[in-house]
Amino acid sequence: MTPYYEDADAGITIYHARCEDVLPSIDPATVDLLLTDPPYGIERGKSLRSREVRDVNHLDGLGWNDKPSDWLRIAEPAMKTEAWLGEWSGAAPVEAHRCLESAKRFGFSSYHTFMLVKRNPPPGLNPTFTSSLEACWLFRRGRPKFQHPRGTMVPNWYSVTLGGPRLHPAQKPLGAVRVIVEALVPRDGLVLDPFMGSGPIAQACHELGRRYIGIELVEDYCRIAVSRLSQQTLDLTGGPA
Ligand SMILES: C[S@@+](CC[C@H](N)C(=O)[O-])C[C@H]1O[C@@H](n2cnc3c(N)ncnc32)[C@H](O)[C@@H]1O
Repeated sequence: MTPYYEDADAGITIYHARCEDVLPSIDPATVDLLLTDPPYGIERGKSLRSREVRDVNHLDGLGWNDKPSDWLRIAEPAMKTEAWLGEWSGAAPVEAHRCLESAKRFGFSSYHTFMLVKRNPPPGLNPTFTSSLEACWLFRRGRPKFQHPRGTMVPNWYSVTLGGPRLHPAQKPLGAVRVIVEALVPRDGLVLDPFMGSGPIAQACHELGRRYIGIELVEDYCRIAVSRLSQQTLDLTGGPA
């Protein structure tokens, strides 16, 4: 399949496609980190209101909407024997369980949790706990190397203040995904992101000198991701703690 965007020097490739159609063609056993933010909120038909994103619900596919682990089954052959897997989701125990069960099927075990902390979470309808956390559940297969970017321990959280315009309704902050990529992937290592959205992981990889393959169904988001690669400061979601 022809990429939507390719920078051979930087090793960045973006496909405008359904990931199910692209993943089987990725070179086997080449990916160091599969880091992605699957459309979990959209599956439940709530919270995300973008028309393009809602339309995703109506596409025929391999049934990953009903069986969230299916995308991983298709992506897994591209991953190295020793590799990292990071899946963004809600922070509830049931989400951790779902991601772990799916990861275990392909030989991954639980490694750690990276938390996104929203200083100003959206108000809920009921006076109960706020929804201030989003999790990236981290798994590993074998003993892939932790990079120790600054020779010290790496915080497993990143805090943001939400507000202002966004590039995607489910946008992840550049700073948060930078921490994960830098800690887990060696320079020139390869990151795979089957649900790219507006491309914060693409931008992080570009800035950090990691290779990247991203796949996104909605062309507008592909265009935004490509523009991020040339305007490296464009990230409108929150900021560092
Ligand atoms: C949760 S969003 C990712 C948002 C991203 N983290 C960001 O910061 O912009 C998931 C994305 O997956 C895309 N998507 C849904 N189904 C897809 C599929 N089968 N193949 C590729 N992309 C898909 C949606 O269009 C959406 O942009």
